[in-house]
Amino acid sequence: MPKRPISFRINGRDHTTEIEDQVLLLDLVRDIGLVGAKLSCDMQVCGACTVLLDGRPVSACTTLALEADRRTVETIEGLADGSTLHPLQQAFVDNFAFQCGYCTPGMIVAAKALLDERPRPDAAQVRHWMEGNICRSPRASRSTSRCRGWRTRSWCDPRTRTHASSGSSATRQNAARGC
Ligand code: FES
Repeated sequence: MPKRPISFRINGRDHTTEIEDQVLLLDLVRDIGLVGAKLSCDMQVCGACTVLLDGRPVSACTTLALEADRRTVETIEGLADGSTLHPLQQAFVDNFAFQCGYCTPGMIVAAKALLDERPRPDAAQVRHWMEGNICRSPRASRSTSRCRGWRTRSWCDPRTRTHASSGSSATRQNAARGC
């Protein structure tokens, strides 16, 4: 199968490669070592594979890599600033807004897109936006409140913050980073 050259900007860095037409965006980003986006349903239902394409969330499991040509891709790995988590990642960690962590990278990336577009969404708007990101954890409702809390800062108040009852901080930080 012939390959085509594509160039795109991913997590702030230019990247050029050659790919076959049928390669999916999820395989492309994972092949270059960005494994935070996960394959789960493989049919654009669960959102575990969510990445941002020109700032908009897409299911990388059903998006051709060719669509990234001359565009900007952002994955969960692009959110943190060195060892400092993005505030949204930190909010998920601080409030234990996940359980196994498998869906967390997709959730955080999708939530970032929402907050970039609508900085102060209400709960209904968050729920509507996040419908494409499925979590089977009973803590899913916390994810909704954390998306809002990061902007309203209500979660920053240590008097009102809820703490995780289990799981180490390092484990939670890894999940928020997509590890
Ligand atoms: S793995 Fe892509 S939407 Fe579920």
